[in-house]
Amino acid sequence: MGKDVIIACDFNSKAEVIAFLEKFKDEKPFVKIGMELFYAEGPDIVRTIKGMGHKIFLDLKLHDIPNTMKKAMAVLSGLDVDMCNVHAAGTKGMMQAALEGLTRADGSRPLLIAVTQLTSTDQETMELWIDKPIDETVMHYAKNTMEAGLDGVVCSPLEAGKVHAVCGEKFLTITPGVRFADGDVGDQKRVTTPAKAKELGSDYIVVGRPITQAADPVAAYRRCVEEFVG
Ligand code: C5P
Repeated sequence: MGKDVIIACDFNSKAEVIAFLEKFKDEKPFVKIGMELFYAEGPDIVRTIKGMGHKIFLDLKLHDIPNTMKKAMAVLSGLDVDMCNVHAAGTKGMMQAALEGLTRADGSRPLLIAVTQLTSTDQETMELWIDKPIDETVMHYAKNTMEAGLDGVVCSPLEAGKVHAVCGEKFLTITPGVRFADGDVGDQKRVTTPAKAKELGSDYIVVGRPITQAADPVAAYRRCVEEFVG
């Protein structure tokens, strides 16, 4: 599996995302579609962007009972996305059901990854009733994800090495929280540069605002690819 840069297309309308993607003439970046855009525009936005030749990571972070999960995943698989995700907190049984639903009649399927512990939560978020250190919880979820047969997890580039050590080099780490050395951090807390993410072993970096809000998004994307993929 080659390393790649995924652009988080956090726009809330089809018009905006299409105008953004049309700036790319010579390359077809891997695109992340999140809840905001998907709920605003529906499955058609996936077909449209796919039709433009982009790979798609559909970031809906699903979490439900296994039966519902399996059926929902079968629908997403039919949409021909390249990567989608669930919450590891849904248990191994739920993740296995997701894999089953995702697998097509010919045995092919999109990549399936899991969210471990949301980075917006921490040890002090008492209502979660987590009595273990948060990094132990993250690694426990990562192990469960691997044992359920999924392809990898979303994590910080700073956790990528540890995840690979526990789950193997082939287990994918998809890492947001990436900023250029001379860029604006915004609301992200623990950030790394694309070059540092590469050094730490990330397989895919997810980059939003440093590309989408750049004066020249194509140049910013190329800079990410150059630093991360080389
Ligand atoms: O604009 P920025 O580069 O911060 O965008 C990062 C993307 O990755 C956003 O779509 C955000 O929702 C997502 N993400 C994240 N941290 C996580 C999981 C997802 O930043 N732990």
